[in-house]
Amino acid sequence: MNRYPIGIFDSGVGGTSIWKEIQKLLPNEDTIYLADSKNAPYGEKSAAQILQLSIKNTEFLLAKGCKIIVVACNTATTNAIDELRRNFKVPFIGIEPAIKPAALQSSSKTVGILATKGTLSSHLFHSTSENHAKGIRIIERDGFGLVPLIEEGKIESEEIRNLLQIYLKPMLEEGIDYLVLGCTHYPYLIPVLKELLPETVKIIDSGEAVARQTMSVLMANNLQKNSEEIGICTFYSNAEIEVLQSLLGGTDANMIVSFLDF
Ligand code: DGL
Repeated sequence: MNRYPIGIFDSGVGGTSIWKEIQKLLPNEDTIYLADSKNAPYGEKSAAQILQLSIKNTEFLLAKGCKIIVVACNTATTNAIDELRRNFKVPFIGIEPAIKPAALQSSSKTVGILATKGTLSSHLFHSTSENHAKGIRIIERDGFGLVPLIEEGKIESEEIRNLLQIYLKPMLEEGIDYLVLGCTHYPYLIPVLKELLPETVKIIDSGEAVARQTMSVLMANNLQKNSEEIGICTFYSNAEIEVLQSLLGGTDANMIVSFLDF
């Protein structure tokens, strides 16, 4: 029995798409989610800055007693997770663009990937694509501008629609049949993406896989809470909390959302 919480961080509100999957699979675990919205987007920062922010977020969550850290951000994972694992003793779960399942299932052997500049330029992303996408054409696109709009809550806005149209056009011209969402903010764009993509293009993200991996790492390290009571979910943001609250779809008695100047 381990009653300490699972710590989750992202550059902002996007990682709540991962928190939702974790909560669905592990409803009895307590969670602490940290949204570093003040510093979003990470995707436009240097690898050194992303590492420094990831260390700060990890230290914050460890100070709250977290037993495991989920880096719910592709940009932070691909730029910082190796160093985090070297620096801290707790287990880390990361998220990377789901290239492998897309590459395995693609009939047109052409896969689109939408991610941040920081993820697409990382060494980890390059080695994963080389290892798992042999014989597959990867059409990459940096989703510049999407994260700030999502942080403002403009999810179904004309601005988002226009950017997505521009980003998807070359992918569709190349004949993709899978679109990999390589940023945890992007699952919130799935309704708009479905309107813009033909039905033949399937969308893949890594949220569920991250939740399953979190469960198996908890079990392997004997860190599960093993209790019938519903977990307490605490959210901290260093920006206004309205967008965070709305993406959570409202809060209940087990959820606490607070502004914290960190
Ligand atoms: N949610 C982050 C990711 O998965 C967004 C990065 C950003 O802040 O640019 O990459």
